[in-house]
Amino acid sequence: MRHFTSIRQLGSLEEALKAAKYVKENPFADQALGRNRTALLVFFNNSLRTRLSTQKAAMNLGMNVMVLDVNQGAWKLETERGVVMDGDKSEHLLEAIPVMGCYADVIGVRSFARFQSREDDYNEVILNQFIQYSGKPVFSMEAATRHPLQTLADILTIEEHKTKARPKVVMTWAPHPKALPQAVPNSFAEGLDMTGYDFVIANPEGYDLAPEFTRGIKVTHNQDEALEGADFVYAKNWASYEQYGQVLSKDMGWTVTSEKMALTDNAFFLHCLPVRRNMIVTDDVIESPRSLVIPEAANRVVAAQTILKMMLESL
Ligand code: CP
Repeated sequence: MRHFTSIRQLGSLEEALKAAKYVKENPFADQALGRNRTALLVFFNNSLRTRLSTQKAAMNLGMNVMVLDVNQGAWKLETERGVVMDGDKSEHLLEAIPVMGCYADVIGVRSFARFQSREDDYNEVILNQFIQYSGKPVFSMEAATRHPLQTLADILTIEEHKTKARPKVVMTWAPHPKALPQAVPNSFAEGLDMTGYDFVIANPEGYDLAPEFTRGIKVTHNQDEALEGADFVYAKNWASYEQYGQVLSKDMGWTVTSEKMALTDNAFFLHCLPVRRNMIVTDDVIESPRSLVIPEAANRVVAAQTILKMMLESL
């Protein structure tokens, strides 16, 4: 696997989960693989978990790690071709990317949807320029349309806690004050489609995800009905895809409360974090013994290490 931008590139999810289990049980077994190799992690957007877990994963593999925050300390980058650069942007991405490629063996990129153009976001213009111009293997640390490292950690967490072969997993939209990208829910839907789980997406009208991510998946606008009998509840906010980037609702009736969780089959609660408490989920639910948000975040190291290991093996 040269590049990693979607969980589908794993081919066999079962094999990837086996590899993740091995990495979790033997975190320092492959230190020789990364020796004298450098991972460059490029952030166009903020991060806590991805930044730390990916660094930790690379260090576990014996790699050197460099982190670049594009908007803090580096030259401000122009991303559009043909622009007369007479403004505040000092360097063009088309020079910056190959330069970064000279310094790294593997490049991780975080570049969120910008909500200026649905077409540009869904064509992953920033991530694809790294793939095209860096000359190095590139992996997504959350791009405009997908967050595959998160999805691998999510599925690993479900696998570790499920008590039946085919658990019912509900991904529910929940309210948030700001417009958030669809990368996490798109990617979760894409990953869950590779499992044999009973998977349902619940969201208000106007919040259906892009058809390419929901084809063949049950989607309902009735959250209570979806939650009935659920074994796992995955909460997430996203902005509208249809009315691209718009916040159409902040309906607190969609917040995951203990009353909502009572509709489930004593479900586990999942969220990728960061989470807005008492908007997305109430304090009592996220603090309950059924909340898996911390083990889920811990599994981000395992997911990143599994993917980096596969990429190093392909160098
Ligand atoms: N879940 C996740 O990607 O967290 P960060 O945005 O903090 O990296």
